[in-house]
Amino acid sequence: MNQVEKFFKRNIEEVKPYLKEIIERYGASMLRLIWESEEAIRLMANENPFGPSLLVFETIRNTLTTINRYPEPTCQELKEKISEYTKLEPRNIVVGAGSLELIDRVSRAFISKGDKALISVPTYSPYEKRVKICGGEVVVVEKPDPNLYWDIEEIKEAVSNNVKILFISSPNNPVGNEIREEDLHELLETGKIIVLDEAYYEYSSRTFSHLVNEFENLVVLRTFSKAFGLAGLRIGYALTNEKVSDYLEKAKVDFNIGCLPMKAAVAALEDLEYMEKAVKETLRERGKVLAGLCEIEGLKPYPSKTNFILVKVEGEFFKASEIVDELLADGILVRNYSYKPGLRGEYFRVTIGRKEQNKAFMEKLKEITR
Ligand SMILES: Cc1ncc(COP(=O)(O)O)c(C=O)c1O
Repeated sequence: MNQVEKFFKRNIEEVKPYLKEIIERYGASMLRLIWESEEAIRLMANENPFGPSLLVFETIRNTLTTINRYPEPTCQELKEKISEYTKLEPRNIVVGAGSLELIDRVSRAFISKGDKALISVPTYSPYEKRVKICGGEVVVVEKPDPNLYWDIEEIKEAVSNNVKILFISSPNNPVGNEIREEDLHELLETGKIIVLDEAYYEYSSRTFSHLVNEFENLVVLRTFSKAFGLAGLRIGYALTNEKVSDYLEKAKVDFNIGCLPMKAAVAALEDLEYMEKAVKETLRERGKVLAGLCEIEGLKPYPSKTNFILVKVEGEFFKASEIVDELLADGILVRNYSYKPGLRGEYFRVTIGRKEQNKAFMEKLKEITR
């Protein structure tokens, strides 16, 4: 008889794998077909539809001859490049295999069994999952409608009850809004560890990374997956004070960053002009998509500082799930966010794609909601 389950940890057993419902509904083979399809219009994962700079491709080709060797373990060259980009010192920089790996590392570094972490929903769901995997307890504070903005007073009250760490995505995925500077200051002054996820910084152009030397409890997370177009290579970084960065370095898996992502990120930072052009085009397209969404009766799009828009489906005539399914039937992928934690009602989220992709999305959406 199989007895292996008796060794499992309850907190891990209870965690849902990524996209569990979608895999259950369509099967893993179908998911793979859609995921790898060249024709699908991918507006579901907040990726950069323009891809990385040509310099990245050239650098990857030149790095291929070194893949038999272990990668340089300190990521020094990349840290120096990130240092130029962020105006912080290399000792303030921790490189990770995507910001998800850093969310995991921060959780493992600070959360022991029974420790509390606070999230304010709706927000990026992996924070909760990583905390639970570490045996931590998640304290949830809802963002009130209609703006889905952080309830600072509620959060301050909740953290006073032994919370160790707060996860804040700003701009927030899936809403697209940013936390105000004075509100972030109030949270930093609680003295708790504040993990500020700035995955969409390049689209919003606003950062709080300059505060890492003033507040030793601040950890800012960034990624190369969005504006730099390197989601498939898995590379991101944290900006924090020296004490925390030394601590996070101890908690890493050795050789966590492969030579291809490491060199690709260096090349991406050598061609900032390319990234800035892609961001500018996305922002221009976002304005058009937002205006189009505002014209459709029964849809309420949220203003966004990112490369995606959250849309509330308020009309009685159609549901978010129907919209998402009908778009999918035409090969247009968007995310259904109905009744996700902190969202009371029907919602979907659409990533801003290339001009022709956004046009196809808007045309189909108009047809569905007509
Ligand atoms: C807020 C936020 N943080 C982190 C990530 C993941 O970033 P990475 O690809 O660097 O793991 C995402 C991806 O959607 C995100 O929305």
